This record gives sequence, C-alpha cells and structure tokens, in this order.
Amino acid sequence: MSLLKCPNESPEKILKLFDEIYLKTRIFYLLKTALDLNLFDYLNDFKSAEDLADMLNTNLTLTEYMLRIFTELGILESCVKYNDNTTYRNTETANIYLKKGSKFSIINPISYYFENIKNWENLIDILKNKDNFSKTNTNNFFPEVVKRMADECKCWELQKVLNYISKYEEFKNAKKLLDLAGGHGLYAIGFSMLNKNLKCYVFDLPNVVEETKKFIEKYNAKNVSTIAGDFYKNDIGNDYDIIFTSYNPGGKNPNIAKKVYNALNNGGLFINKQFFSEKEERIEDYLNNMEWNFSKPAGLEKSRLRFTFKGDLNFNDYLKYLENLGFKILEVVYIPELLGFKDNSPAKMIVAKKL
Ligand SMILES: C[S@@+](CC[C@H](N)C(=O)[O-])C[C@H]1O[C@@H](n2cnc3c(N)ncnc32)[C@H](O)[C@@H]1O
Repeated sequence: MSLLKCPNESPEKILKLFDEIYLKTRIFYLLKTALDLNLFDYLNDFKSAEDLADMLNTNLTLTEYMLRIFTELGILESCVKYNDNTTYRNTETANIYLKKGSKFSIINPISYYFENIKNWENLIDILKNKDNFSKTNTNNFFPEVVKRMADECKCWELQKVLNYISKYEEFKNAKKLLDLAGGHGLYAIGFSMLNKNLKCYVFDLPNVVEETKKFIEKYNAKNVSTIAGDFYKNDIGNDYDIIFTSYNPGGKNPNIAKKVYNALNNGGLFINKQFFSEKEERIEDYLNNMEWNFSKPAGLEKSRLRFTFKGDLNFNDYLKYLENLGFKILEVVYIPELLGFKDNSPAKMIVAKKL
C-alpha cells in the first residue's frame, strides 16, 4: 500500500525553507507593528512590559514577547531587577534611528519596505497584467521620493560622501557647484557648509525644486539656489567647477555625461554616484530586478535591470565614454566601502576631472 511507503525524498528541504521564511516574515511584521505603535519613542528609559502595555493599551503577554524578541535582535536592552521584574529600553541604535522624533529617524525610508511588500502580496495581479501594470505618475513620484531619500542619506551616506569629497583641492578651490538632479538638495547644502566661498545650484524638475526650497530654508543655506528644468531637454547652466550627481536616472546616460562635460570648467570635477546594477547572480538581484519591473513611471523608459534606463551604458562603457569625452578618471569609490558596512548595494562614485 502506498500509504505505508515513504515518498522517494523527505520534505525536509521544503519545510526548512518555509520555516526560515516564516520566521523572518513574522519579525518583519513585528517591526512594522512596533513602528506603527511608536514603541521606541516610549523606551528612552527602562520600562517593564506592564508599563508599556498600559501606555500602549496592548495585550501584556504579547507585549512582553515583543520586547523579548527585540532584545534578542539587539534593538532593545533588558535589565532584570531584584524582584525578577524585567525592564527594557532602547539600545543606542534604536534611540538614534527608530524614534519618530529623532533627528536621524530612519522610519520614513524604512516605510518603503512596508509599502513595497504590498506588491508582493498582489504579485499574481502584477504577473497576470503583463504590460499593463502600474503606471506611476512621475508628477507625485519624485517629490515624495526625495523626502524619503533626504531622511535616508542624512543617516550616514551624506556625511561620508561630503567628508570624502572635501579632501579634494579642486573642491576647496571651487566657486560654483551644480548638484544635478539633487532632489532634496542636502548634498549641495552640505557642500556649501564645507566651503563658504562656494555658490551651489540644485537642478531638478520644477515640482521637485519646490521641495528643495523647503530644505534650503530649513538649513538656512544662503549660498544654495535652485534651477528648475528637465536635464534631458533643458540647459543645465555652465562655468561649474564641480558637478555632483547622485542616484539620478540620467547618471549612466551618455548624453547627460556630454552635457555635464560641456557645462564644466577645464580642470573641474564630475562626481557621479550611481547604482551600477550589472550582475544578476543572487536571489536578491532577481528579486530586486523583479520589483523594478513592477511599475512603469510615465516619462521614464526603464530597462530590465534595477536602476537602469533606456540608453544607459554599463559601468565599463560609461568610464570609457567619459575618457573619450576628455575626462580623466581620478578614482572610483565603492559606496559600501565608504559607508563601512556591506549593504548589498552596487553603488559606485566616479570622480572624473575635465582635462
Ligand atoms: C532618486 S532621486 C535622487 C535624489 C538625490 N540626488 C539623492 O541622491 O538623494 C532622483 C532625482 O532625479 C530627479 N530627476 C529625475 N528625472 C529628472 C529629469 N529629467 N530632470 C531633472 N531631474 C530629474 C528626480 O526629481 C530626483 O530628485
């Protein structure tokens, strides 16, 4: 009887796979819930599970487990008192990044995961819709993206990049800088703080520079102005000593590189920080590339690989193109190395000098 005979292979592999994934998924939703409850805003000081359950109006047993799990994950730390009552508080990392009111709150960038996961829950619709899937309207898309990116970059990358570039003599002597597709403008604002003689311009789409202006005002950046335009169609200005650009859709495009070359003074620097997604070899790459292909923002012609657009050059061809234009490549900085931690990012910063 087939009931008495085991199948040819055990289900171990399948069950382990689901167990591992289910474990991580539950933690994902636990973190989401904690952020929805502003849990970390309550945990500057040690509190017991009872205190917290009272404050948050949540179930005591579940609250206690949640606190224990976050302690195991290194987000909270615990202290056992003489009466065996355990209390919990934020670790330094949670204090810095996970509180809503923190200067370096990373909650807004993280909320992107919670938004994106909804696409995976509806994957069947996206898959079956073939080419008619979600057409994002770029009108609202970029002004929202840049607010999130401002919160994200100011949590580490911004300072690392500014500090790195400020070592260049060309930067110290520069008078005019362009932050091309600068969005929030925090890079330009930071550069203007590091070199008081520098006049900085943030070039971006008209509806995005309205957001840039708010950041310029917030940081009282007197030497930073905006230029509204579309870098594919409009003039980007000229006589720049430095053109900086970060994660913009034209960052691998030869025509934009040519515009940059023409807009720079001789001896000027082109600093271009971009994702160069070339390898497709890990599950993460396949997943990221799938996600990239979920939507088609109006006005942008995406290519198949994440963060690539029609007409983009790959990394080596882009470098060759810059050299043929008349740039000397001074260095290529690997962003994970600059950040000091591996974040699976294929980002690189090219520093090129117009000869
Ligand atoms: C991913 S954001 C990067 C923002 C910022 N540079 C950073 O690294 O945090 C891409 C930026 O490119 C801008 N952008 C996209 N298409 C553009 C175009 N055709 N002309 C000018 N700016 C554009 C967007 O408005 C947005 O500010």
